[in-house]
Amino acid sequence: MNGRTDTRNYPCRTEDLPIEHFRMVLEAISKIIKVQLPAYLKRLPLPESIGGFARLTVSEWLRLLPLLGILALLGYLTIRPFLPKKKKQRDSLINLKIQKENPKVVNEIDIEDLNSANVCYCRCWRSKTFPVCDKSHLKHNELTGDNVGPLILKKKIL
Ligand code: FES
Repeated sequence: MNGRTDTRNYPCRTEDLPIEHFRMVLEAISKIIKVQLPAYLKRLPLPESIGGFARLTVSEWLRLLPLLGILALLGYLTIRPFLPKKKKQRDSLINLKIQKENPKVVNEIDIEDLNSANVCYCRCWRSKTFPVCDKSHLKHNELTGDNVGPLILKKKIL
């Protein structure tokens, strides 16, 4: 060794591998876009008019399917940001109509004020006498397959 830096180009130096790999990927993508995609599009049985679609055979439709699928996916991805998102959030609401003007629905009940042995409090948020259960949970469970029921407070009668 004479102390000089080795400046020769080794084709497989470890630090060149990611760049070489990136270059190969770009070449593959370039070949697909410049060569294979135009060749594929040229072979597609695209009719000259709308009526020509009706005359396509089953095998011609099958050859068009990948392109139609990609176009449908691109169309969906394009309009997706404009689709309403409120619907999904609305489906996850528990409280649909009780005191919607309030930021939070809170009810307080003094145990001492209970004047019957059993009092049922609504947990399904469908009761018309909220917070007291009016058995609306039965209809809710039947319609949705849910299994909610009231909170029953029992008072010992001495
Ligand atoms: S009405 Fe809601 S739990 Fe009964």
